[in-house]
Amino acid sequence: MNVGVLVSGTGTNLQALLDADLGAARVAVVVSNRPGVAALDRATAAGVPAVVVPHGAYGDDRAAFEDAVLAVLAQHGVLPGGAVVLAGFMRILTPRFVDRFPLRIVNTHPSLLPAFPGANAVADALAHGVKVTGATVHFVDGTLDGGPIIAQAAVPVLPGDDAAALHARILCEEHRMLPAAVRSLAAGELLCQGRHVIRRGSGAE
Ligand code: GRF
Repeated sequence: MNVGVLVSGTGTNLQALLDADLGAARVAVVVSNRPGVAALDRATAAGVPAVVVPHGAYGDDRAAFEDAVLAVLAQHGVLPGGAVVLAGFMRILTPRFVDRFPLRIVNTHPSLLPAFPGANAVADALAHGVKVTGATVHFVDGTLDGGPIIAQAAVPVLPGDDAAALHARILCEEHRMLPAAVRSLAAGELLCQGRHVIRRGSGAE
């Protein structure tokens, strides 16, 4: 299963994917909407094609930006039946894109969804005063951080935590869960019944 990974920044989740045994999945291409980010260097170091599709060049034309991303994915063999992983990708995909890969787009998010969706999840959780937050790996369905949940892990908020310290511990859980989810997806183990993602062989289906 060819996987395209979309990134916008540091790329530690991408690195976890590159370092993991993904079974039947392979990272075929990495696409960044921002030039010069560390994630691109990680891809290159791993021998994976790294392509920049700068969203700024498309102005408000989301469809044109997404068409350009889809074209790069297709050029590298990431077609419907493959998968797309959003690994710190900070753009919202429209239904037009999402519908090309139904239940084949996976996102990682640094909170226990549905709490604290959006771009500032770690700071929002801290500001709210929660005692426990965490990480969620989920399918993307065109709602903001709202698709069916594949895996979650809780992370306690410790006294004196700032956003960086808390995020570092959350990232450890993301780095563990995201490759496992991609491996399971490629193995055909993830069944979706409405909002419920069931792992084939778990006895729950
Ligand atoms: C992760 O916490 C991800 O969930 C969030 O942004 C962070 C990206 O980190 N959307 P990295 O670029 O993978 O290091």
